[in-house]
Amino acid sequence: MRILILTHAFNSLTQRLFAELERRGHDLSVEFDINDGVTREAVTAFRPELVLAPFLKRAIPDDIWQHWLCLVVHPGIPGDRGPSALDWAVQQGLDWWGVTVLQAEAEMDAGPIWAWEAFPMRPDRKSSLYCNEVTEAALAAVLRALQRRSATGFQPRPQEGIEEGARGSPHRPIRQTDRELDWTTEDTETVLRKLRAADSQPGIRDRLGGQTLRLFDPYPEDELRGPPGELIARRHGAVCRATVDGAVWIGHLRTEEEGNGFPFKRPAVEVLGEAARALPERAVGLKEAAHRTFQDLAYRERDGVGFLYFAFYNGAMGTPECERLLAAYRQAWERPTRVLVLLGGPDFWSNGLDLRRIEAAASPAEESWQNIQAMNDLVRAILTTRDRLTVAAMRGNAGAGGVFMALAADRVFAREGVVLNPHYKNMGNLYGSEYWTYLLPRRAGANASRTIMERRLPLLAGEAMELGLIDGVCGTSPTGTENEVAHWAFQRAADPALTDDIATKGRRLDAAEVEKPLDAYRAEELERMRLNFFGFDPSYHVARYNFVHKVPHSRTPMYLARHRSLRYRSKAAYRSGTG
Ligand code: COA
Repeated sequence: MRILILTHAFNSLTQRLFAELERRGHDLSVEFDINDGVTREAVTAFRPELVLAPFLKRAIPDDIWQHWLCLVVHPGIPGDRGPSALDWAVQQGLDWWGVTVLQAEAEMDAGPIWAWEAFPMRPDRKSSLYCNEVTEAALAAVLRALQRRSATGFQPRPQEGIEEGARGSPHRPIRQTDRELDWTTEDTETVLRKLRAADSQPGIRDRLGGQTLRLFDPYPEDELRGPPGELIARRHGAVCRATVDGAVWIGHLRTEEEGNGFPFKRPAVEVLGEAARALPERAVGLKEAAHRTFQDLAYRERDGVGFLYFAFYNGAMGTPECERLLAAYRQAWERPTRVLVLLGGPDFWSNGLDLRRIEAAASPAEESWQNIQAMNDLVRAILTTRDRLTVAAMRGNAGAGGVFMALAADRVFAREGVVLNPHYKNMGNLYGSEYWTYLLPRRAGANASRTIMERRLPLLAGEAMELGLIDGVCGTSPTGTENEVAHWAFQRAADPALTDDIATKGRRLDAAEVEKPLDAYRAEELERMRLNFFGFDPSYHVARYNFVHKVPHSRTPMYLARHRSLRYRSKAAYRSGTG
C-alpha cells in the first residue's frame, strides 16, 4: 500500500511504524506536519492510498481528510477524545489503557474506529509507557487497520457503538494547575504519579531552592526521611526531596525564568548550584539496592555471570556517566565471573554523547572532545576484555555512538521491537568515533556498513540481525529480554567450551591488533571528529543547538520525504494522468 506518514516529528513510535511497514513491503514516504500547504503538496505528489498520522499535535485540514483516507493513531481507548490522553491516564493511575486507530473527521479524535488495542498499565513514566506498551499496541492496531483496509467490505465502527465500560470520554488538555504538587500533604505515590505523568514532557512547575523550575526524572526513595517539602540529600546529579511519608529523587530540572540559566533540562544539582551542593551526598554502592531509590548503575551476580545495569536519563552519556560506567565496568571485571552482561536501561540502551551537557558547557567543542574520549575509553575497555565473554543486552532503543558501544561486546542481543539508529550524520554530519570503523565492518561487512551509515534510517532489531550487526533478537519486553539473555548466559558460563572460546577471542584480538592497532582506528576517527568540533564547518554545533532547544522542523529531510524526489514526482504525474 502507498502510505504517507504525516507526523509532527520522526519520533520513536513513528520510527517503529515506518520500519515495520517498510519491512512488510509498503511504499512509504514521510511528511512533517509543518504547514497545511506543504501537506497538500505532499499528498498531491505522492497520491497515497492512506495517510497515517502516528503523532500529530493539531488537526488534519478538512480538504485532506475529505479526499484521502486519513488514519490517526490516538494514545487512548475508543471514546477518549482530546490532547494529553496518556498524561491523564497515568495521573489518574488507571489499571489499563489502549491505543485507537481512528479515521480523521471534522472533530478531533471523534471519527469511526478502524482498530484498537488495550494494554495493562504499569506504574511508570509516561515516556516509558509510550516507548513500550503504547508503541506495541499502536503497531498491532495499525497492522489490523491495514488488513481491514485491504479486505473488502470492512466498515469502521462509529464511536457511539462502543459498549460502556470499554469507552473513554472527551477531556480537555491537562494543565500545570492539574499537575500541581503539594509536598506538605501529598504522599510519595501521589507525587510520583503526577511527576511520572509529566515525564519526559512537559515536567511539573514548582519552586525549589528559591527558583521556579520544571521537575523531571523522578524516582521513589524508601529509606531517606525529612521534613516534607525539604531537600534532604543529593546523589550524582539528582536531589532528594521529602514527602509526608518518604521521599522522591528528582534527576533533572529546567529553569522557568527567562534569562536565568539554560532553557533545557539539566542535572538537578547543576541547576540548583550551591543550594544542592550544600546537601549531604548519600552515595549508593554498585550492589543492586534492596529498596526503591535512585540508582543509575547497579551490579548483581549469579552462577558465574555478572549483570551490569546502566540507566541514564534518555540514554544520554556525558563525560561523568562514561567515567562512572567505566569505573563500574572495572569493578565488575574484578569479579570472578566468566560472562559479563551489560544491560543498559529498560527504556534506552544508550543514545551516545550527552548533547545537553555539551550545549551547556563553557566550550561545547571542548566538552564534545572530552565526552568522546570518555566514551572511547569505555568502548575500548569492553572491546579489549580478554578473560571473559562480554554480552550486550539491548532492552531499549539506541542511537548513534550508543549502538556502537554495544557492538564492542562479544555477543549482542536486542529486544524484539527495539529501534536502532546506527549512524551519526543526522547530527550535523558528525563523523562519529567509538571505534565504529573497526566494529561495524567487522560485523556487517564493508558494503552494508556504508549503506547503514548513509541511509540514516532506523533499523529494527530483526533487520540489524539480518545485516549481522547484532547476534540475536530475544524477548518482547525489557524484562523478557533480560530473562532470556540471563538464561543463555548461565548456560554459556557453565559450558566447558567457553574457555576455548575466550582463548580464541584473545587470539583474534591479537591478530587484529597486528593488522591495524585499535589506537589507529581511534586516531583516524578523532581526526575527523576534531574537524566536526573545532573546524570551520559549524553544522554539528547548529544541529546540536536545534536538537537540544527543540527548534521546530522547517522542512522534512529528503531521506524521509521520498515523494519529493524526482522519481516519485514523475510516477505520481503518470498515475494522475498528467505526466
Ligand atoms: N543527548 C541528550 N539528550 C538526548 C540524546 C542525547 N544524545 N538523545 C536523545 N536525547 C533526549 C531527547 O532530547 C529527548 O528529550 P526529552 O525527554 O526532553 O524530550 C529524549 O532524549 C528522547 O529522545 P527523542 O529524540 O525524542 O527520541 P526518538 O526516539 O524520537 O529519537 C534518536 C531517537 C536516537 C534518533 C534521537 O534521540 C537522536 O538523534 N539522538 C541524538 C543521537 C546523537 O547524535 N548522539 C550524539 C552522537 S554520539
